[in-house]
Amino acid sequence: MARVVIVSNRVPVPTERGARAGGLAVGIADALKDGGLWFGWSGQISASARNPVRKIEADKITYATIDLNQEDYDRFYVGYANSTLWPLLHFRLGLIDFKREDLDGYFSVNRTFAAALALELEPDDIVWIHDYHLIPLGAELRRLGVRNRLGFFLHIPFVPASLFSALPQGEKLLRAFLAYDVVGLQTEEHRRDFLDAVKQVLGTEPGADGAFVTADGTSRAIANPIGIDARGFAAMATKAERSTETKRLLSSLVGRDLVIGVDRLDYSKGLPNRFAAFGKLLHDHPEHRQKVSYLQVAAKSREDVSEYQALRRELDRKAGNINGRYAEFDWVPLRYMTRPMSRATLAGFYRAAKVALVTPLRDGMNLVAKEFIAAQDLNDPGVLILSRFAGAAEDLSEALIVNPYDPGEITDAMHQALTMPLEERRDRMDRLRARVFTITAESYCRNFLAALAA
Ligand code: G6P
Repeated sequence: MARVVIVSNRVPVPTERGARAGGLAVGIADALKDGGLWFGWSGQISASARNPVRKIEADKITYATIDLNQEDYDRFYVGYANSTLWPLLHFRLGLIDFKREDLDGYFSVNRTFAAALALELEPDDIVWIHDYHLIPLGAELRRLGVRNRLGFFLHIPFVPASLFSALPQGEKLLRAFLAYDVVGLQTEEHRRDFLDAVKQVLGTEPGADGAFVTADGTSRAIANPIGIDARGFAAMATKAERSTETKRLLSSLVGRDLVIGVDRLDYSKGLPNRFAAFGKLLHDHPEHRQKVSYLQVAAKSREDVSEYQALRRELDRKAGNINGRYAEFDWVPLRYMTRPMSRATLAGFYRAAKVALVTPLRDGMNLVAKEFIAAQDLNDPGVLILSRFAGAAEDLSEALIVNPYDPGEITDAMHQALTMPLEERRDRMDRLRARVFTITAESYCRNFLAALAA
């Protein structure tokens, strides 16, 4: 069997195991269950020019990473990837901070990655590249003469052509997608928008199966939703139920219902609206005061990007306002923390929670929604409140689906969830679990690699 090579900006090098936010690595690790190579950024910034590739072997996987220098980091990661592409592809044109030198830095880092990766490749390797940081990597590899099967998966949404056309030099980026044999997107909607953008912006008409004929062959776009290892996560949650952390959490609740939200501290996650919705719940439904505690883990993220700093200040203020208004000497309504927590600890918290809030303004998929579902105890399950703008909503229609732009919808859903009869909670959770145990990390990797090998 051909070796699988995974490439992503973040690499979960085992020595750095621990509380890293973001679901990408969790979903794709399954592709390397028989071993392989995982290549990407070390997460380090080195002062000098780029250091050589560093390698670590663990469980039949070789982790090969390179550093970025400060300028690369500023232009490629902070700049183009996270201040242009991220807001654009999350429908936030107003937050785009485009600089030409960032665009150049982005392409330059992709060239550097390609040169380093090409040296590691063997002729039969199947190469699977992940996410918006590395869109041009395939084209750069082709330029170096790499003839391997090359696949790409976009973990975040794609936007309608009319929005995409706001991206300066967007044709250049879009053309880079067509260097891949297979381009994967999370949902049918994202795939449709991608195909439409290629058609509108590049004037290339796709075939009925989403395939384009290009100079190098054909390139095909598929929708392939990512999932989790549901069995593994359920087992983790059952075990974590008895953990010290879960016990401490439960004793601190003194019988109150737990509402939980777990996100990276990111403007795409809709956190201000969620806080507003909780404040409105306490205002409009005084019967819930002192009866619920809302724990929001908003793990610090991309702290060098100014929009993230502004959001942090806003949330600090909003959390303070809610607690200042409603807290009692023995009840803090909103427990807001920005320290990341391990998945194992969170698994126990999900199982203990009555309600989960997953209300992003836009999200590629959102694996917290799936983890919450997998963690539930079917004898007394919690309720998932899910934004219709998370990719996960395409499949999880038995959640309470809300439009997060109206905090009132979230408030109503919270009230409904907190008062929902056991029978209905079970019925909804039963159906949700069927999905989460069917579309898994394993099926996601298997489908993509099959499409790529075809
Ligand atoms: C999202 C992206 C990932 C990214 C993760 C964490 O899940 O799709 O590509 O790795 O966020 O963000 P960070 O900037 O810390 O890598």
